[in-house]
Amino acid sequence: MLRARGGWWWRGLRRCASLPRALRVREALQAPEPVEQVKVQVCGGGVAVCLGWVRSVRSQKEVLFLHINDGSSLESLQIVADPSLENRDLTFGSAVEVQGKLVKSPHKMQNMELKAETIRVVGPCNALLFPLKMKERHPLEYVRQFPHLRCRNNTLGSLLRIRSEATASIHSFFQVANEAKESAEKTHFFNVPAFLTVSGQLHLEVMAGAFTRVFTFGPTFRAENSQSRRHLAEFYMVEAELSFTESLQDIMQVMEDLFKTVTSTVLSKCPHDVELFHKHIAPGQKGRLEQMLKKRFVIISYSKAVEILKQASQAFTFKPEWGCDLQTEHEKYLVKHCGEVPVFVINYPYDLKPFYMRDNEDGPQHTVAAVDLLVPGVGELCGGSLREERLPFLESRLQRLGLADTYQWYLDLRKFGSVPHGGFGMGFERYLQYILGVDNIKDVIPFPRFSHSCLL
Ligand code: 4AD
Ligand code: MG
Repeated sequence: MLRARGGWWWRGLRRCASLPRALRVREALQAPEPVEQVKVQVCGGGVAVCLGWVRSVRSQKEVLFLHINDGSSLESLQIVADPSLENRDLTFGSAVEVQGKLVKSPHKMQNMELKAETIRVVGPCNALLFPLKMKERHPLEYVRQFPHLRCRNNTLGSLLRIRSEATASIHSFFQVANEAKESAEKTHFFNVPAFLTVSGQLHLEVMAGAFTRVFTFGPTFRAENSQSRRHLAEFYMVEAELSFTESLQDIMQVMEDLFKTVTSTVLSKCPHDVELFHKHIAPGQKGRLEQMLKKRFVIISYSKAVEILKQASQAFTFKPEWGCDLQTEHEKYLVKHCGEVPVFVINYPYDLKPFYMRDNEDGPQHTVAAVDLLVPGVGELCGGSLREERLPFLESRLQRLGLADTYQWYLDLRKFGSVPHGGFGMGFERYLQYILGVDNIKDVIPFPRFSHSCLL
């Protein structure tokens, strides 16, 4: 989703100086005054053109009211027209092109409205067959049945605008312009089996070995055998890697800052879209988030977490035991126990975690310098660690796993100018799930291409 940022209205004006350009609904609603003057510059002759989909039609004796939406804002633009412009194809869901004058609206609820001179139905819509209905608040479970149409629903529209703002904020947090370039050549085939990545981490470590601090934000694939409310087969992950870092504290600081910065940006830049979720889907979530933003996240060790779980009065399906993975029910309990704020759990058992995590050389309960960030309602949001930068440690671990040959290139990074470093990954959909209070992760993706957690 592309949107001109900062001063978009005036930039928009400049762009359409020579050619008439359709006015986005958001631009129309926020048009500065004086209207007449602006209008003349917009499209010449004082006429504005708006394109969108009809969200409501109300025909009165003297006047015809339409609301059209083009995805640029939650609010739709009111069109006021002479009843003679009504035609039978002008139904809820139809695509229209409206030409007219943008004027100050006499209604308190909105700034501007469009006085239509012509209305053209570009694409009719049979409102009886169309699964979305006018002015109905469809539950997420209902719209999920129509993945190809659900973007036309307010909730999904808001979600996608929020995703877009959060994506931009993640990029700007790491101070890099959003210049993702698509490869022009898409016809390339490999002669050997090609695999999808479950994480960009190891390659990010290569980059961190030259650029010090790096991040990546892109698609990630998993074939986990779990059809849960927080697992996807294809999701987005933001990963950061920091060289010259010896403490988990540094990694946790970046995680907390990233989380708080992006969330504050989304709350301030998408207030109406976020409000829709906080009003109808997760009442009370706004206050909880605002409180959370003021507090420091809690830090506990894995061993302490297991102790807390063992003392819990709650009966768990999986009995908590040192050495076993924390289940979602455990994660949720820990967050509740710590006052419903995000909780960092650090220093996990050596045998539970991947080979690249740094050995804490402790005992008898042997741990690695790993960290997971657990958040209310979702559980694990981020996973990270210090990386094992010492060649002998990494080499012997890979040898024991029979992976030393495969990872020769990774061992090379420890042979040539190795530095203490670490990083983390944050699941983007789980992030959205948490801030918006959405129960099912499948409701925060643009299009469920792989709705089953099985890719192989
Ligand atoms: O904890 P994970 O597996 O960590 C890594 O992949 C590290 N290599 C990251 C790093 O250190 N650079 O995954 C990171 C996050 C999880 O905390 C979770 O939020 C999300 O990715 N995630 C998923 N989100 C949706 N569906 C799935 N199947 C997910 N698996 C992980
Ligand atoms: Mg993890």
